[in-house]
Amino acid sequence: MKEHNKVVLITGANSGIGLELTKNLLLRGWEVAALIRSDFPNEQPIIIDALKKNHLRVYKADLADFSSLRNALDQIKKSEAKIDLLFNNAEVSFAEYKYSKQGREIHFEVNTLVPFIITMELKELLLKGQDKTIINTSSNSLLFLKQFDLNTIINPKTPFKKLIGPYANSKLALSLWTNGIAPELSSEGIKIRSVCPGPNKTRLTKGKGMPSYILLIRNLMFTPPSKGASRLYDAAFNNEITGIFINKGKETAIKLSGHKEEVLNRLYDIYKNEFLVYFYLNSIYKLHSVLNINEMKIKTVGDDLGTYSIKQISEKTGLTEDAIRYYEKIGLLPYAKRKQNGHRIYGDEDKELMELIICLKKTGMSLNEMKKIIKLPIKENINAIPELKRTLLDYKEKIMIQIQDLQRIVAFIDDKLESDSTLFRSK
Ligand SMILES: NC(=O)c1ccc[n+]([C@@H]2O[C@H](COP(=O)([O-])OP(=O)(O)OC[C@H]3O[C@@H](n4cnc5c(N)ncnc54)[C@H](OP(=O)(O)O)[C@@H]3O)[C@@H](O)[C@H]2O)c1
Repeated sequence: MKEHNKVVLITGANSGIGLELTKNLLLRGWEVAALIRSDFPNEQPIIIDALKKNHLRVYKADLADFSSLRNALDQIKKSEAKIDLLFNNAEVSFAEYKYSKQGREIHFEVNTLVPFIITMELKELLLKGQDKTIINTSSNSLLFLKQFDLNTIINPKTPFKKLIGPYANSKLALSLWTNGIAPELSSEGIKIRSVCPGPNKTRLTKGKGMPSYILLIRNLMFTPPSKGASRLYDAAFNNEITGIFINKGKETAIKLSGHKEEVLNRLYDIYKNEFLVYFYLNSIYKLHSVLNINEMKIKTVGDDLGTYSIKQISEKTGLTEDAIRYYEKIGLLPYAKRKQNGHRIYGDEDKELMELIICLKKTGMSLNEMKKIIKLPIKENINAIPELKRTLLDYKEKIMIQIQDLQRIVAFIDDKLESDSTLFRSK
């Protein structure tokens, strides 16, 4: 059946099973939003044609980096009107422990946590779609595990094992949260399943993360990735049950399922307390490093003149000219460089700083608070400056409350829209 105007989002769409799934869905008439790190391979006529027609839209991100992921998700939210179907398919499998920019072991970060964040972030778009289905690509390697320790997965202390080490554990954690979150998503009309695509000849199965026996049987026994792609597709459409793990086309019990609440709680915690406030904290770190009150000097015409007049920088940033002069007067902005005629002139660093101030103002931080932060010694580690750490934690707490308030408002509006009632309790 040809699908028209339906949108599927696929992570890792440029390689292996994700690439076959992308081509398969394009041929069925779907529009594909590809959340990928590397380019699509050359010489793929279906891909080239779909890119030209805008049936295939590319969003670039390194999923192991919150900053990159945040930017891509914001782009997706701006550009896509809805998502009907979501495939969390990208994965990593290395031959040793590695760590994400956020400091957690990378198999957990990319294979378990990031699909959860993408699910949370794109839920609103899924609710606008028709199929409202999420498929998380898992692996039957999870069936070989006999024990599960979440802390060790995030921060390993045991020797590395290929396939049945961090990779299998990350996939088990993925299937556990898929199962754990299903009732909550179901109440909103969203179905979610985790699926093993079976053994496929892809980059993964000839990579260094695989034990040597896999490499031996791969060429003889593994299927082309189009088979794995069709297993994922079938799991989306040939099954109505939510929360299950599908292996060899059948619902399969998830081992160690007593850990699902623990996994889910930890993911919620990282998502809310880290990912959602990431940009707020990042802004403060940046502000802190850009501004050094001790280094503020009256700058004169020099080698590196800026490129904006006060009027231009005001238009670019949205700060009024009066505000810019005032911030300079109170020491929040460094003294502006001057042209020979005495007019202020600004560069990109000033612009970035003004944008940070706007961002911090939105968090409710007063100008005095901002000034206090920038007076602290900036060259030392944040944890070595208790005052700064305390301020950051206080603001994080405030932001969390703001987020909860905003979520309540969104829920109230949704409720009013869905129930088609008046904004008043009674007429
Ligand atoms: N092949 C099998 O036999 C098999 C068996 C069981 C389960 N699976 C699962 O099937 C899914 C697809 O795997 P595959 O076999 O098709 O492997 P693959 O060809 O190696 O594809 C992996 C994909 O993940 C992407 N990726 C990895 N790290 C990323 C990052 N930090 N940011 C963004 N993207 C990243 C890769 O992007 P780059 O191209 O940029 O690296 C690539 O697109 C995986 O979830 C895998 O665990 C596969």
